[in-house]
Amino acid sequence: MKVSAPAELNEQLGLTHSTDASRNWFARASAVLAGGISSSARSNTTGDLPYPLYIARGDGSHIWDADGNEFIDYLLSYGSVILGHRDPGLTAAVTSQLAAGTMFGTCNTVEVELAEQITHMVPGAELVRFSNSGSEAICGAIRAARGFTGRSKILKFEGHYHGWVDVLAISNRPAEADAGPLDHPRSQPHSRGIPEGIVHDVIIAPWNHRPEVGRILQEHRADLAAVILEPVVANNACTMPEAGFLEWLRQECDRNGILLIYDEIVTGFRMARGGAAEYFGVTPDLLIWSKALGGGFPISAFAGRRDVMLPVAANTVKHGGTYNGNPLCAAAALATLRYINTPGVLEAIHRHGEAIIDTIRRSASHYGVPCCVQGTGAMFQVVFNADGRPLRHYRDLLKADARRYAIFRQALLERGVHINNSGSACWFVSAAHGRDDAAGAADLHHTCAAVEQAMKICADSQVVG
Ligand SMILES: Cc1ncc(COP(=O)(O)O)c(C=O)c1O
Repeated sequence: MKVSAPAELNEQLGLTHSTDASRNWFARASAVLAGGISSSARSNTTGDLPYPLYIARGDGSHIWDADGNEFIDYLLSYGSVILGHRDPGLTAAVTSQLAAGTMFGTCNTVEVELAEQITHMVPGAELVRFSNSGSEAICGAIRAARGFTGRSKILKFEGHYHGWVDVLAISNRPAEADAGPLDHPRSQPHSRGIPEGIVHDVIIAPWNHRPEVGRILQEHRADLAAVILEPVVANNACTMPEAGFLEWLRQECDRNGILLIYDEIVTGFRMARGGAAEYFGVTPDLLIWSKALGGGFPISAFAGRRDVMLPVAANTVKHGGTYNGNPLCAAAALATLRYINTPGVLEAIHRHGEAIIDTIRRSASHYGVPCCVQGTGAMFQVVFNADGRPLRHYRDLLKADARRYAIFRQALLERGVHINNSGSACWFVSAAHGRDDAAGAADLHHTCAAVEQAMKICADSQVVG
């Protein structure tokens, strides 16, 4: 791959193709797609290239771009493709549903089986509703919380991401200068075009800071319908909740009649079979899933306590959608969850990721590169920060060395390892990476060798920089 690696290195790594096809596709795309892309998140997925890579196909843990360059994929469609690309079981389930018909706009048996599977796997999921994207399911859950409590305000944590739609696109990534004091963060719209009234209804608090959160909760308790959070902050480089923080929040919410909502769009069916709710042993009132749920197909869901979901059941809280629970995506999700629920599958995913985490830590220590690695084997991120301590909060992430992450990511890409371009996001591991055979071992070996070389490049860049 031509990117910026010297030719002899490309040869050594077998990345001999150019990226000309991607460049040409981006030129065509820019003429007809706004910005050449279909999602704002893809505007900076290019690394050193002035155009994105166009991925043409995937198989297991590997993907190929339009020029034929091959990568081991740890982006996995932002964690969606949890079984790996073109999983045979999922493909068979979807093919069989294709033959039976894809959409009827009516009730169907597959959505029932899928809801049963979810309620069986996840603590606190008593009644379920399906939709199509994470953002849509967030809207459903927030409306359910407001409908149940009769209150309008929502507390969210600075830096947590709950989708692109108006309802919660507030203080996703505020610049420090706009964010206000840490003990009283300002609600900052993430985009132009979000009405002032919505900004006013979203109260912002600092993650992991109990005294400040407690004070903000007290201040707004009469108006707060819910507290929503990413239990592991996937969008802040997998920042973890500190010991006791979720338990404490649970108690505070109960004391004040406020609902607790977990956005498990990333953590669901990944941290554990029952997601973060099971992993941390703290059950929320409402949960939201997408990504791993569909194994790469567009489906999402929200669910929760029976009494909280009853207004949705009774149709006093409206929730609609032409494509909701369609049999094609439901079949993909059912095949995915049944596989994830098989003993040993998530454990193998975690083991593969833990081995990479160990390699990052060991090589960083060997080359003297300060950093911390956060998360678990199934989802994790390296943060190049001066003190090498785990982040507590979004503002710690602002102090991380973004330039060094870019160097690390680029070095991995040139060695055939594909991770998210953003240091705020994370690595994902699939069942295809975790498989217990020669190919799984080869993936791990290749990835760890690439990590070591990338870390050495980071160390050298420190001296130069
Ligand atoms: C934690 C979290 N919540 C919500 C969303 C929004 O999901 P979608 O992009 O499917 O609308 C995302 C997307 O990355 C996410 O990471």
